[in-house]
Amino acid sequence: MKYYITCYIDYIRLHIACNSLIKLLAPFNKGTLSILTLFSLGLSFSNHALAAPFEVLHWWTEQGELQSKQVLVDHLKVNNIEFEDFAIVGSGGGGAIHVLQMRALSGNPPEAAQIKGPDIAEWNNLSMLVGINELTDTSAWQQFLPKVVIDDISVDNNYMAVPINIHRVNWLWLNTKIFKQYGLAAPTTWKQFFATATFLTSKGIKPLVFGGTPWQDALLFESIAISELGAEQYKQAFVEFNHDVISSPEMVNTFKLFKRFHRYATPEQQGQDWTWSSQAFINNEAAMLFMGDWVKGSWTAMGKKAMQDYQCIPAPGTQGVFSYNIDSFVLFKKAHLSPDQHSQSIFVDTLMSPSFQQDFSQLKGSLPARTDLDLSGFDACSQLSSTDFKHDSKVPSFTQNMATSSHQKAQIIQLISDYFNSDSLSAEDAVRQLGVLVKALTSK
Ligand code: BGC
Repeated sequence: MKYYITCYIDYIRLHIACNSLIKLLAPFNKGTLSILTLFSLGLSFSNHALAAPFEVLHWWTEQGELQSKQVLVDHLKVNNIEFEDFAIVGSGGGGAIHVLQMRALSGNPPEAAQIKGPDIAEWNNLSMLVGINELTDTSAWQQFLPKVVIDDISVDNNYMAVPINIHRVNWLWLNTKIFKQYGLAAPTTWKQFFATATFLTSKGIKPLVFGGTPWQDALLFESIAISELGAEQYKQAFVEFNHDVISSPEMVNTFKLFKRFHRYATPEQQGQDWTWSSQAFINNEAAMLFMGDWVKGSWTAMGKKAMQDYQCIPAPGTQGVFSYNIDSFVLFKKAHLSPDQHSQSIFVDTLMSPSFQQDFSQLKGSLPARTDLDLSGFDACSQLSSTDFKHDSKVPSFTQNMATSSHQKAQIIQLISDYFNSDSLSAEDAVRQLGVLVKALTSK
């Protein structure tokens, strides 16, 4: 293995040296050039024979995510691509982005990375990405990708990422055993939610469980914001950063309503990731959970079934709105490894293939990004998600990096979380702080 790596690094050095030499010698004699060109090509062929590992950065580290990732590994293997794991645990992908920044700064990015939403354009501005059109024929994509997906992966009308799936974020999950035991109806308004929660508390049942990190606090806030502001104003606030909407009475109400959930926070949830709350929920330790439908992937991996072990409903007050989170991968320029563009092309084609998109999403809990696939084998929650996706207003999830860059998002979710966990900050103060923050984030 060590020998292989050493040889491989030597090959890269030699190949760069050789190509640089060809450039340097460009004005000189043609004979020398052709010998060097042949030498360089020979090295390229030997690279194909070695089939270099294809390094992919992602943050799929939980059991259900690992099973879905294995689908990716297997599909790539069939096409002779050896997947090399570059997995960073936790923080809803925040940790992965930081590590990627370090690797990119040191001039050694992976071949592909899980980058979503406006971050795609930010990486593209650094001239580090390969345009997908350079790798494969994308002319048919318009026919089977929905508009929000096309918009999400396009920068100046060029596709700069390959989309694989669509997660819905504004779900409320209900534990079937507990709801059945007490004959409870699914809450569709916040009033019903709090009445149900109060009843469950009186029976000694934990009504709601959630992890204790800023992105999870903000995920709950996001659903409340959709319900209180409506789809249009939500977009004006979190995509366009419209100051009037940000400082509106509806925004103050959103923060006030959000704060009412703090009563369900417990000391042991502090710092816990989503995997902790999803386990507590499915082990019947709590009746309700707000989370995107990747959580369903973790329950599928445990053999749990939609509508049998858990129910899915849109978060109260968000019926008719679908907050989406699109997983996609960008491809990095690896100038010194030009033969590898071939692997990148295969990577893109594999990820866009119907069989991969179907197999992957069925385990992941998402919908395929392609809308021309048969979903009859998908569970009832995915069927509901698919119907709602067709008819609902669609809004980008800001906690999932769909509305703003991850840098902007990080600051906003920190403010939301600080407010949630503060004893002294009023909703009015938090809204004022949000206005100031957004101004700072958008000033040139
Ligand atoms: C990603 C999902 C992932 C989830 C939890 C989200 O940001 O889009 O694919 O499963 O984080 O790790």
